[in-house]
Amino acid sequence: MKKFVSVTIILILLCTSIFAACDSGSEKIRVATDATWPPFEYVDTDTNKIVGFDIDLFTAIAEEAGIEFEFVNVEWDPLLAGVAQGTYDAAISSITIREDRLADMSFSDPYFVARQIIVVKTDSDITGISGLVGKKVGVQTGTTGDIEASAVDGVNVTGYDEIGMAFVALLSSQIDAVVCDTPVASGYVSKYSNLKAVAEFPTIEEYGIAFPKGSDDLIEKINAALANVKADGVIDQLVQKWLVD
Ligand code: ARG
Repeated sequence: MKKFVSVTIILILLCTSIFAACDSGSEKIRVATDATWPPFEYVDTDTNKIVGFDIDLFTAIAEEAGIEFEFVNVEWDPLLAGVAQGTYDAAISSITIREDRLADMSFSDPYFVARQIIVVKTDSDITGISGLVGKKVGVQTGTTGDIEASAVDGVNVTGYDEIGMAFVALLSSQIDAVVCDTPVASGYVSKYSNLKAVAEFPTIEEYGIAFPKGSDDLIEKINAALANVKADGVIDQLVQKWLVD
């Protein structure tokens, strides 16, 4: 009998602690990412896991801030809309902080600087932005590459759901160029010897983590953790790990 009572007490204690754990688990935030953008966020085909610069960075930030989270893989277009509508608590996806986006969502402090760059096949005669006039240019729909390429008069822009599809089209000569973020372009250029990057757009972009409006407490925590992580040299380590060949 005595044994039964103590077993029961242990069971009750165990259950309460499990429930307590579950309770704090419900605070897990949902972080959206469009994992089609190597080397910042993409699915490693060997492990089927989402990996990349942003993935490591957010993991370090969350650990620093004591935040529980899960990544949700979402296409680029619904990702921005989902953040704006509050479907996700945050998104890390090489998202350029832009005035027009700030109307619908909030951003963390910037963590990376990128530019838009033109990639062509090595035998192309396109050498700069003006060379895109009258040509077919592939972009990921709704990205800053799309916005910049579409702003050049006379350019024939084709939007793809994923930048990888634009590169497939370029490699098979269905289009003449791709415009995308510099780190993504570098990755494709080093992977395919018949591609080259020729010219940057005169714009400078900063990546930020996006949040639905009204997430001030979370943003404050993330910014504090981001500052610590930066001070610890994590960004430099990630540049070495993901961007320097
Ligand atoms: N930086 C660009 C933008 O904000 C492209 C980001 C695309 N990111 C992605 N994971 N597909 O428009």
